[in-house]
Amino acid sequence: MLANLLFLLPVFFLFLHLLLRVGRALFSPLKDIPGPFWTRFTSLWYFSRVRGGQFEHENIKLHQQYGPIVRIAPNQYSISDISAIKTVYGTGSQFAKSAWYDGWKHPQQWTIFADRDIKRHADTRKRFTSLYSMSSLVHYEPFVDRCADIFVNRLGDFADSKKIFNLGHWFQCYAFDVIGNITFGERFGFLDRGDDIDGAIEAVHKVMVYSTLVGVYPEWHPRLFGLLSKFKWSGAGGRAYISQFVREKIRNHQKPDAEAPESLRTQDFLEKLILAHEKNPEKVTEYHLFIMGQSNVTAGSDTTAISLSSIMWHLLQNPDTLSKLVAEVDDFTAKGNGNITFKESQDMPYFQAVMKEALRMHSATGLPMWRVVPAGGAQIGDRFFHEGTIVGANTWVAHYDERVFPNPRTFQPERWLEAESEPDKLKEMNQMYMPFGLGSRTCLGKHISILEMSKLIPRLLREFEFTPLRNNWTTQNFWFVKPMDFEVQVKRRNTELLE
Ligand code: HEM
Repeated sequence: MLANLLFLLPVFFLFLHLLLRVGRALFSPLKDIPGPFWTRFTSLWYFSRVRGGQFEHENIKLHQQYGPIVRIAPNQYSISDISAIKTVYGTGSQFAKSAWYDGWKHPQQWTIFADRDIKRHADTRKRFTSLYSMSSLVHYEPFVDRCADIFVNRLGDFADSKKIFNLGHWFQCYAFDVIGNITFGERFGFLDRGDDIDGAIEAVHKVMVYSTLVGVYPEWHPRLFGLLSKFKWSGAGGRAYISQFVREKIRNHQKPDAEAPESLRTQDFLEKLILAHEKNPEKVTEYHLFIMGQSNVTAGSDTTAISLSSIMWHLLQNPDTLSKLVAEVDDFTAKGNGNITFKESQDMPYFQAVMKEALRMHSATGLPMWRVVPAGGAQIGDRFFHEGTIVGANTWVAHYDERVFPNPRTFQPERWLEAESEPDKLKEMNQMYMPFGLGSRTCLGKHISILEMSKLIPRLLREFEFTPLRNNWTTQNFWFVKPMDFEVQVKRRNTELLE
């Protein structure tokens, strides 16, 4: 009797659970919104597609097949229209980040990127904004120059030895070292060794996979995290590792060397925050120091490396565009004295258009940026969504919308220059352009990454010629859409590549 009960009880609860799901699907006021069949009943469909690592392409196809609003899971919808995007992410929006972002933090802590509390987020952001502002860039430029010097030396070595190498990996070494330098005042040393020192790159990758997937079932995160964080091989272990790594960097932080040349004595992020903490420990707490360091390491290296890869990849696949840009770089180099400064790069219209188009074609993030419909519900496009519904736009879907970007699969920097004579068109393009996200949660590190790209790309084009090994590349999307096999050979410009 007891054995029968023990068997029947779980079956009964499973049946009840399924019945509830079917009931919810049948009586949902949004049941007529189209989407793949199984998404009515379960998030498993979304989980399995995200796990496949190509969701950016699937998301585009879903909108082509089903229209501007597509059901992705029960109570979860992908949106694509400008007006809908404005409602969700626009100024003053009260759409908080969804529970998907919980996977990006320790279950008992909060960080700026994952914070779902609108008020606390705004408050934290205020404390950090000046560190990332355009006017701070001038302090960071020497750090970037130093890393660019080492990068160029490494490529010189590869040119001399005719080595085939993964440019994507080396961009990651560059971006990591720049972030180390800007954030903690010291390079991590990736550019010297070329390999993954202490496994930090691998740890960030594991965090990406874990957080992306566990976020689909956020209720599992607190249960899994405690257990998995004990294992270095797991994504939770990767997060624990990064946290430890950042704590050590903060503990060992050295004040800028008073004897060092002026150009290298500029303050890093940590130094600036420590000074602010000493001045007002309640306003800028030690925890603020920690989350700033952690955010920079996880949000600031892969993203920039991917964007650098996208620029170079699209240039190498489009020789005419490459020649035009090289001519612009040579012209600027001839007029200036040495390396192009960040300020000068702002006056290179073709380069600006190339960067913009490369980030349109291949944005660093490739999943919808999920938000929750606030209290009272909201009208999005021509539909009313009740409070608690989850909605999100994927940058890739917006960037491949052919109504706004005709021939979206063609790399065409000229589209940005031509649109300058059509203000309405340009406005619409800019509204749909979101590689750095949107609204109050837009990327804090945008200017820094633009600085990193603006300093490196012209220099590479001035000094080297690149030959890609293949005409298509493999990418993997675990939030960051990472190229896996961007292998190239390089030669110094005006020298023959020896057979
Ligand atoms: C080309 C490079 C980069 C790209 C494409 C990029 C992209 C993004 C995107 C799309 C978001 C918003 C995500 C969302 O709403 O879910 C974001 C947020 C963020 N990014 Fe970046 N990012 C880049 C570089 C950086 C760098 C270099 C840093 C740090 C130095 C950084 C720090 C952050 C932070 C802290 C946030 C959270 C902002 C908030 O929630 O208020 N990012 N980034």
